[in-house]
Amino acid sequence: MKISERFIQQLQEKVDIETVISSYVNLKRRGKTFVGLCPFHNEKTPSFTVYPETQSFYCFGCGAGGDVISFVRRTENLDYVEAVKSVAQMAGMSMPEDGFDDTLSKKRARILSANREAARFYHKCLKSEQGSRALDYFHSRMLTDKTIVKFGLGYAPDSWDSLIRHMKSLGYTELELYEANLARRSDKNGRVSYYDNFRNRAMFPIIDLRGNVIAFGGRVLDDSKPKYVNTSDTLVYKKSMGVYALNYAKNSNEGKLILVEGYMDVIALHQAGFGNAIACLGTAFTAEQANLLSRYADEIYICYDSDEAGQTATRKALSVLGTTGLKLRVIKLTGGKDPDEIIRINGPERFRDLIEGASNRIEYALLRERGKYDVSTDDGKMNFLNAASEILASCGEIERDIYAGRLSDETGVSKEAILTRVKSKGNAIRRREQEGKRIEQQKMLFSAKDKNNPEREHNIKAARAEEILIASLARNPDFYRKLEGKLTPDLFVTSFNKRLFGSLCEKIKSDSGLELSFFADEFNPQEMDSVTRIFHSGVELSNTLKECEDCIEVLKSCSGGEKPKASQLSDDEFLKLFKK
Ligand code: UTP
Ligand code: MN
Repeated sequence: MKISERFIQQLQEKVDIETVISSYVNLKRRGKTFVGLCPFHNEKTPSFTVYPETQSFYCFGCGAGGDVISFVRRTENLDYVEAVKSVAQMAGMSMPEDGFDDTLSKKRARILSANREAARFYHKCLKSEQGSRALDYFHSRMLTDKTIVKFGLGYAPDSWDSLIRHMKSLGYTELELYEANLARRSDKNGRVSYYDNFRNRAMFPIIDLRGNVIAFGGRVLDDSKPKYVNTSDTLVYKKSMGVYALNYAKNSNEGKLILVEGYMDVIALHQAGFGNAIACLGTAFTAEQANLLSRYADEIYICYDSDEAGQTATRKALSVLGTTGLKLRVIKLTGGKDPDEIIRINGPERFRDLIEGASNRIEYALLRERGKYDVSTDDGKMNFLNAASEILASCGEIERDIYAGRLSDETGVSKEAILTRVKSKGNAIRRREQEGKRIEQQKMLFSAKDKNNPEREHNIKAARAEEILIASLARNPDFYRKLEGKLTPDLFVTSFNKRLFGSLCEKIKSDSGLELSFFADEFNPQEMDSVTRIFHSGVELSNTLKECEDCIEVLKSCSGGEKPKASQLSDDEFLKLFKK
């Protein structure tokens, strides 16, 4: 069973994709379309395009695409039914009571409740005798009992199955615990057994904006490795979207957030009165996390550890956050290696001073460059000014003016000379970016690779013919009857396209709608990227029966004969494949 087509149709008529997306992305009108910075990858100039006419979006930078439902599904990390519900809510429509498949929703609800029970269990263990070492540990890090309760901290016992036994007594199965990543599975000689994922660790539950426990981090109590075990991706958790303590921080402080590295830093800061501290989980700071933060803040204080790793992470975070339009400041930590230590040694006042002294993005970058050169020599001065002009080139008029003035005072070089240099750097950067962009878009459109269709690369000719057929049929469903007998699924070479073709034919036969939305329940959001790309390619086709018949011939010759490998073709030959 699935959500009725009629309902999806009504939903389509009620919501505008551009309205929904503009609450996540700053869109600008460009002719019949809207463009903005892609929320799914990190970019400086917009390649993310919204097409009101087809109620779809497509990013020429990363290939993400789909309809309004897949957009919401992805940005909010929801399953299909939940995404439909959420879009329906925006449209003020209530969901039909029955008639849709909610197995995935049920599974997610089950994982969330298992997580909640597990968090309770770990918390109880912390307060019991076996948890005394973990409790001592938290106390040694100066956490109060109130803080321990607020963050739901816990202890996972030193045992292979104490959580599993407890959860079984509550009616959860081992498989459910495995799917929640609370248990792991070992498969020795065909004998499957399960054991606790977190053992002898101090536990940090990760709570989302709705108050659900979505994951855990578990820290060792000594110096052994790995220091942390974290929940890997599950149906309810995506590491690349995880932000720790945003549930507390989101409403705290006039839209300012303090971004720190670790769980302990966040907790120590909250306890010291900085309720707007958060940490981004996972190793690399992602565009998804940046996007999430930009919905709750307009200014971010980056406050990573003072070591080299922390500085590298700072630069990366700056570059990812730099595209969100958020105001950025970098806190330079002195008097301790991380916020937790600074507060413990020097007290909260010291940290407040550091926040006040935080430099903005430009000051921070200039500071770093200045450190690289000996500005007392002419050579050093020139090289520093050169690097500084590069930095100012990406700034607005006013900032350029302010900092060029300061640089002039510092180096004795006239402000006008510096501004001229900045301007020519700016032009060079813009040219470079435009050229890079053009090449990137070309590559994207003409790339033989498709992550959803691994066979495409090695069967590019056939795959292209398949895609033309799919795109033409979707635009001209009447061709289906006209080609009957000639066009059969067994002609298809690549299995992804075959599956899409099958689904399209089913819809044509049953007179269902052929808009993208009707494919979003059979194809997951990542697969929708390819579906969108293929459907959009229909715009450039001649849309004639003759074209389809040519493609059928191509497929016939491919399924029998040899297959040209994309890698064996020269670039020119390769591009010709697309240009009919
Ligand atoms: P830190 O090593 O700074 O951790 O790593 P911390 O939370 O401040 O711990 P303390 O102060 O030593 O007790 C920063 C973050 O990187 C992730 C965790 O999210 C951690 O909070 N991390 C670190 C891991 O996931 N695994 C590791 O092995 C280490
Ligand atoms: Mn730390």
